[in-house]
Amino acid sequence: MSKERVRERTDRPARPFRAHRDVLDAAPDPLSPVGAMPPIISITGLSKVYASGFQALRSVNLEIRRGEIFALLGPNGAGKTTLIGIVCGIVSPTEGRVTVDGHDIRAAYRKTRRLIGLVPQELTTDAFETVWATVSFSRGLFGLKPDPGHVERVLKDLSLWEKRDSRIMTLSGGMKRRVLIAKALSHEPQVLFLDEPTAGVDVELRQDMWRLVRRLRDQGVTVILTTHYIEEAEEMADRVGVIRRGEIILVEEKAELMRKLGRKQLTLQLQSPLDALPPALAVHRLDLSADGSELTYTYDSQGERTGITALLTDLRAAGLRFRDLQTRQSSLEDIFVDLVKERA
Ligand SMILES: Nc1ncnc2c1ncn2[C@@H]1O[C@H](COP(=O)(O)OP(=O)(O)O)[C@@H](O)[C@H]1O
Ligand SMILES: [Mg+2]
Repeated sequence: MSKERVRERTDRPARPFRAHRDVLDAAPDPLSPVGAMPPIISITGLSKVYASGFQALRSVNLEIRRGEIFALLGPNGAGKTTLIGIVCGIVSPTEGRVTVDGHDIRAAYRKTRRLIGLVPQELTTDAFETVWATVSFSRGLFGLKPDPGHVERVLKDLSLWEKRDSRIMTLSGGMKRRVLIAKALSHEPQVLFLDEPTAGVDVELRQDMWRLVRRLRDQGVTVILTTHYIEEAEEMADRVGVIRRGEIILVEEKAELMRKLGRKQLTLQLQSPLDALPPALAVHRLDLSADGSELTYTYDSQGERTGITALLTDLRAAGLRFRDLQTRQSSLEDIFVDLVKERA
């Protein structure tokens, strides 16, 4: 694809939901695989030092692909909300540049903000308004014409339709969170940010949210969610980024990351200690403890379970007996420690 054509396509006026799909579904261009599409969000050299002097982001570079579900994973205080705040124009960056659909977020604030829906981490709602009024008003804030049909669809998607005439203050915490999502979708954004959407929500809402996110992705919306739950990233994301102390330490396809993260260990206490690993067991990924009394087998959660059967068969054939065994799964903590070690 020539540069001119790229520009032409990205400069198309913002259109709701399906705009991006239209681009993807355009007549196939053999020279232009989808991967070559310019990123929907591009973050370069982004740093943030708060007025307190605290540095929350350190030269972050990150590209979000069109139409993907991207999970930004990191412990509390890592800088996730700060990063989202900058892209949404709520927090001002100290250094660096962010573009959304090719437009600089500062030079073209209204244009880029209009493309984005944000579901904030904290519950912030207008207590006295009704659900319907809140969501409709939110749409108006972006200068869009009223569209009761769209508002109705959004409320129905979020199981809020029955509550449309209720004042926000009468709703449960879970329902208020649904209202925040409805507000974020009121202006048909192309990019949706969900900041810790499922922290402390019930199972039903979590599942509804996951279903909604997938449906949005199917409509061509790019979804960026932050979480400190590995399971959530595993369940939802196409790609995962890990942030720690303001630094992006890893960005990877989920499948690849889960292969690395989902490590498990099986430890066998042997009946009699070994001097060395028998050569017949060399094909297995085994570690012998210093005193020769324990064998540890490390495997990942995806697809290596059959390895255990083979290992046990080979142990038996080698005449090794064990008196006890333990399994252990790497925790999120271990994973972060491992990642940090790896990058050091
Ligand atoms: N307005 C602020 N002033 C000073 N420090 C802040 C401010 N907002 C956030 N921080 C600090 O910046 C760090 C990153 O915060 P945040 O982006 O909220 O992280 P996360 O969302 O990953 O938990 C934290 O240490 C937090 O205390
Ligand atoms: Mg946060």
